Amino acid sequence: MKHKCFGPVIAIANQKGGVGKTTTSINLAASLAALDKRVLLIDLDPQGNTTSGLGIDKKSVEQGMYSVLMRDAGIHEVLIETECEGLFLLPASMDLAGAEVELVSVEGRENIMHDAISSYVGEPFDYVIIDCPPALNLLTLNALTAADRVLITLQTEFYAMEGLTQLIDTIRRVRQSLNLELSMDGILLTMVDRRNNLALQVESEVRDYFGNQVYKNIIPRNVRLSEAPSFGVPVMYHDLRSTGAQAYLQVAQELIQRQEA
Ligand SMILES: Nc1ncnc2c1ncn2[C@@H]1O[C@H](COP(=O)(O)OP(=O)(O)O)[C@@H](O)[C@H]1O
Ligand SMILES: [Mg+2]
Repeated sequence: MKHKCFGPVIAIANQKGGVGKTTTSINLAASLAALDKRVLLIDLDPQGNTTSGLGIDKKSVEQGMYSVLMRDAGIHEVLIETECEGLFLLPASMDLAGAEVELVSVEGRENIMHDAISSYVGEPFDYVIIDCPPALNLLTLNALTAADRVLITLQTEFYAMEGLTQLIDTIRRVRQSLNLELSMDGILLTMVDRRNNLALQVESEVRDYFGNQVYKNIIPRNVRLSEAPSFGVPVMYHDLRSTGAQAYLQVAQELIQRQEA
């Protein structure tokens, strides 16, 4: 691991919006916490859907990710203990949207997140999950520079593979210039509807091409997953028996096994 005080730092990335990054960040982090891991979930998307999905009003956050990026606060000063045991959130605040522009002229602007994680003092975390914005921008570059691994969420639809080359190319460039240790965690298929022939076809194409980089477990399309944020809780606290909750618990176990393998 590149950060002493931490287990793996995993960036959840895809420059496309609406492909399940935030849903995965929240529910994977909560599932890891339910498996007795101590988890830090970082909301790096100015939309703040991870923050609101955990029941925290972005407008009420005084210091969050923005303050960390501006080097005004350390991670230990801004993290919030959530109602799920073992799960901590570094929230997005209203001002995060301005961070990207403000950082453009800052020296070492791609490394701020990395430095913030490295200089964290406090009880260590077993996992850090970073929810990236839907763009290959400076915020995402910060996440990729800080991360040990990238997990790509892929929606099984006709255009699923589109943009993937660009994303993988970006990961390769970050590895060459900013973060030698960055590796691929895997590709997670989301919103899968196996009754749909096209979805089946996309799944088999992705598996043929990327082999065992693709998670064996998939996330099915499940209405409980889209409802849970309006209750401000991860899906397992909304409906533990739902296929969505069970799928994320399986993926969390697979993630742990992959790390040990
Ligand atoms: N497996 C799923 N089943 C049903 N709805 C989902 C699922 N995953 C995500 N959604 C919904 O799809 C939308 C986009 O998902 P989201 O996780 O916010 O994507 P991203 O963060 O990549 O933009 C949200 O409204 C979310 O609730
Ligand atoms: Mg999102």
